Amino acid sequence: MGHIICVTAGKDGAGKTTTAINLSAAFAIAEKKVLLVDCDPISHSTVGLGIDGTHINGSLYQAMTGKIPIDRLIIKKGTGFPDLIPAGLDLYRFPSGTGKKKEFVLCDLLAELRDRYDYIVIDTPQMPVILMINAFVAAESLIVTIPCEYLSLYGAGYLFDTFQIIKKGFSLKTDIAGILLTKMDIREKASMLIAQELRRRFENMVFETAIPLSSELSNSAAYGKPVFLTDVRSAGAKSYLKLASEIIGKWYQ
Ligand SMILES: Nc1ncnc2c1ncn2[C@@H]1O[C@H](COP(=O)(O)OP(=O)(O)O)[C@@H](O)[C@H]1O
Ligand SMILES: [Mg+2]
Repeated sequence: MGHIICVTAGKDGAGKTTTAINLSAAFAIAEKKVLLVDCDPISHSTVGLGIDGTHINGSLYQAMTGKIPIDRLIIKKGTGFPDLIPAGLDLYRFPSGTGKKKEFVLCDLLAELRDRYDYIVIDTPQMPVILMINAFVAAESLIVTIPCEYLSLYGAGYLFDTFQIIKKGFSLKTDIAGILLTKMDIREKASMLIAQELRRRFENMVFETAIPLSSELSNSAAYGKPVFLTDVRSAGAKSYLKLASEIIGKWYQ
């Protein structure tokens, strides 16, 4: 049974999509069967894996509204890529068009695919909130990305409060697997101090691996590939491999 991970954050620009793409690809390199589900209407995971929205059978919205079976949406790009379920701007229309209990639609769909994968990673949007709730309901574990920037010291707890309300409201078993520090600029004293403060505040909830600020990570998305296919020796690539091994060690022992 595949482990379903939702990559989420308290705000945009926190490294969710970069993490969803490169953590999925790192699982693929470790020979795990992995599916990346782009649940964000902005579709950056889809674009970041080089998929042109005009050449797909449909977006997740079509499966969420029962128009296309979910497995017909799966795109397989081959070695070094995770399988992908693409998003599209039409996801903004969700839940219109669905007759089911709207918070459980994604959970029910992914239940059909779980046996085929070791990991299913969901790239989660901030908005619309109904999609964020669907991702929380579908997942067993959350990875919360927090960038090592000054403003992260304020409001970092907001996401946890939101999650607890949703968890209680829907009686979920979903747990927080860990907090991932992203965009850590090792040349900037302030960034390192913020990382230190976040580790002090959230203690053992924080993954040992932190993701450095690395231009190779932002550039790889422009090439439509995971960083391992554009600059495998970069610090960004090494950090996502280390994160994958930390997670595999946690869940496969
Ligand atoms: N570790 C990193 N180093 C450098 N740039 C990064 C890093 N993580 C994310 N970025 C860049 O920051 C921007 C926002 O990241 P993204 O992963 O799209 O965040 P989110 O999905 O939370 O909005 C993107 O331009 C991305 O390329
Ligand atoms: Mg994103």
